[in-house]
Amino acid sequence: MDFPDKVQIKEVGPRDGLQNEKEFVTTDVKVEWINRLSSSGLKYIEITSFVPPKWIPALADASEVAGKITRVPGITYAALVPNRKGLERALEADLDEVSVFMSASEAHNRKNINKSVDETFPVLEEVVKDAVSAGKKVRGYVSTVFGCPYDGAVPVDHVKKVTDRLLNMGVYEISLGDTIGVANPWQMDQVLKDITQSFSPDQLALHLHDTRGMALANTLVGLTHGIKVFDSAAGGLGGCPYAKGAAGNTASEDLIHMLEEMGIDTGIDFDRFMEAAKYIEKKLEKSLPSRQLRISS
Ligand code: HMG
Ligand code: MG
Repeated sequence: MDFPDKVQIKEVGPRDGLQNEKEFVTTDVKVEWINRLSSSGLKYIEITSFVPPKWIPALADASEVAGKITRVPGITYAALVPNRKGLERALEADLDEVSVFMSASEAHNRKNINKSVDETFPVLEEVVKDAVSAGKKVRGYVSTVFGCPYDGAVPVDHVKKVTDRLLNMGVYEISLGDTIGVANPWQMDQVLKDITQSFSPDQLALHLHDTRGMALANTLVGLTHGIKVFDSAAGGLGGCPYAKGAAGNTASEDLIHMLEEMGIDTGIDFDRFMEAAKYIEKKLEKSLPSRQLRISS
């Protein structure tokens, strides 16, 4: 098998990891956690979402979090924005980068962002244009790539259509989401074979939820297709409140461990990262799904 020498891990714990938590995590804890993550060698942290608090109460303090963290030079601090209002809030809070998001399936798109797929394009087009004019890079998420909790199987052509539209708007990278963790390695191989015929692996990332314990196996398949950017969350936190059955993301420390053991450089100091993961596990007062946390406790 042919693997890259180096990959980038994009830490989404403070956003995807917390958006589904029932107990509100205080702003100070979020800030301290992000500061600890910043000292681990990560170069990219998605810290929050500028969505209406009515939709995601757990991240209602997005602006405060962005204002209070210590920004380390060389780290990109990013956030999710669903529309122009979200972008305005993100620009006011001086985020380095924003991410837009939508689904490849109609039903999840409606549940998650209250619009059809076709109605979403013009909204995001305006966001990307304004963000780029403000000097910000924009990342794009495509959700439900490998299956939708409401529509079931999702044709790869739908994924390619949404990916193409977002890249044409000026998004620099598409993170392909296994939102509910249904992909298996064979399916991952088939889908990536098809998608990489139309798009370069350098424009793609994987965002895998680990509902059925297949995220690391699917990561391995992604590596063989030349994907070098992977999203994950400390502790294996995460889930989407608008996707029934979505469990946590790939646990970052399990991913770092696997990659480093394989000789693939992540640039992350494993011990420092574990300290950050242990910090949030303690604050949440429950055990998190990560294997590395279990064997070290
Ligand atoms: P809507 O209710 O249709 O929005 O929501 P609207 O435009 O009709 O506005 C309703 C009210 O919200 C208005 O206020 C707006 O001003 C306000 P009112 O006039 O009633 O007082 N509003 C806002 N306030 C603050 N910030 C904003 C904002 N926008 C409007 N940005 C909307 C449409 C898209 C906003 C909503 O559906 C939404 O935010 N959905 C996001 C839900 C979400 O965050 N889901 C989880 C993230 S996605 C995910 O987890 C998947 C991912 O991880 C990848 C994967 O795993 O596949 C990325
Ligand atoms: Mg997600």
